[in-house]
Amino acid sequence: MAIPIPEKRVAEFEKLGFGMFIHWGLYSQLGRGEWVMHQERIPVDEYKELAKTFTASKFDPYKIATTAKAAGMKYITLTTRHHEGFSLYDTRGLSTYDAPHSAAGRDLIREYVDACNDVGIVPFFYHTTLDWYHPDFNNNFKSYLQYLRDSVEVLCSEYGKIGGLWFDGNWSKKDEDWEEDALYAVIRKHQPEAIIVNNTGLSARGEPGNLQLDSVTFEQGRPTPMNREGMSKYFAAEMCHTLNAHWGCGYADFNYKSLPHLIETLCACRKVGANYLLNVGPTGEGEITLLQEALLRSIGDWINLGGGSVYEGKPCGVVSEDSPKNFALRIDNKLYFYVHDLSITGDSNVTVAGGGAGDKVFTGVPGKIKSVKWTDCDGDLAFTQDGDKVTINCTGYTYGKSLVVRIAEAEIE
Ligand code: GLC
Repeated sequence: MAIPIPEKRVAEFEKLGFGMFIHWGLYSQLGRGEWVMHQERIPVDEYKELAKTFTASKFDPYKIATTAKAAGMKYITLTTRHHEGFSLYDTRGLSTYDAPHSAAGRDLIREYVDACNDVGIVPFFYHTTLDWYHPDFNNNFKSYLQYLRDSVEVLCSEYGKIGGLWFDGNWSKKDEDWEEDALYAVIRKHQPEAIIVNNTGLSARGEPGNLQLDSVTFEQGRPTPMNREGMSKYFAAEMCHTLNAHWGCGYADFNYKSLPHLIETLCACRKVGANYLLNVGPTGEGEITLLQEALLRSIGDWINLGGGSVYEGKPCGVVSEDSPKNFALRIDNKLYFYVHDLSITGDSNVTVAGGGAGDKVFTGVPGKIKSVKWTDCDGDLAFTQDGDKVTINCTGYTYGKSLVVRIAEAEIE
């Protein structure tokens, strides 16, 4: 059965490859995650007081966009409104529970979009569909859906061209009619090229839905390869991931992922052609912390050494005989072999990295290989080829290097 061809915008989205997710809202001031209102059963009247202290005094979207760029991220998805119901944008009269009516007194989404455009990062909008603040959400759902559509219309018509909309919350009322067609029609009217995503949550990872959607989601889980045969449209895939254990700022959350884990996760996503959307939770004042920034910048350094194939490289059916983690991506007549767990070659009294160097076998190689070399250093690697089977002598790192995942670039005839 045929695999559908991706629409142009979907193909472009896949090439973005790596993005920054940002969860920031009133909850960030409490520093106990973005679900704090719900978890601690804080009454609306008490919770909404947080708007009076939400100054956004350290929110510097230019700095955030610059950090994203240094991390090798091509897009940012920011929570314009999360489940708490507070909007970071000027709702233009739809509600007074928004940034211009808070202590910040300004439209934070305007600043965000302008900064992204300046820096050359594509701005995406996360928007909740579940709302703990709006009374209609539980009392007059139809009228709530109109409010949601009007809100989205503001976002789609007031900020120029945006990358896309990322919805989240339909899983909260699984049996309701969310009138999705009407919501997506509002977007298509103003932003025909926007990517539309609607998160299927932890319980239904990778599930396609409405045909206006452009990507499936793999929340907090490594994406599995998509079987697109016979599908009526090509959906991209995206995995969103927390840097520690919460999306929103957690002052007592020390559970950060390691840099090797983050690099390997980025690779695991690209192995199956999925985008990687890595989250930061700025402080209540709007600042990304030093630890978060340092981790992100280091991923960018790794991407630079690898030569950038993480963006345009496509899965091409190459299989590793040595490790399920190893794989290859293809760009035109180039193949990029992603090799994990190489050791450092050097004096045994000082080199500690585990794993091994040596021959690595790949099958399903499309074409005859002319030459292979690491992207991070000069010199050809020895290899032999027998039909679609290639054995590459993967040398270890020289003392002074340990890249977690090392990429070999091969030219094919
Ligand atoms: C979940 C959570 C939410 C978070 C989202 C990100 O659906 O409800 O807090 O924004 O995942 O993927």
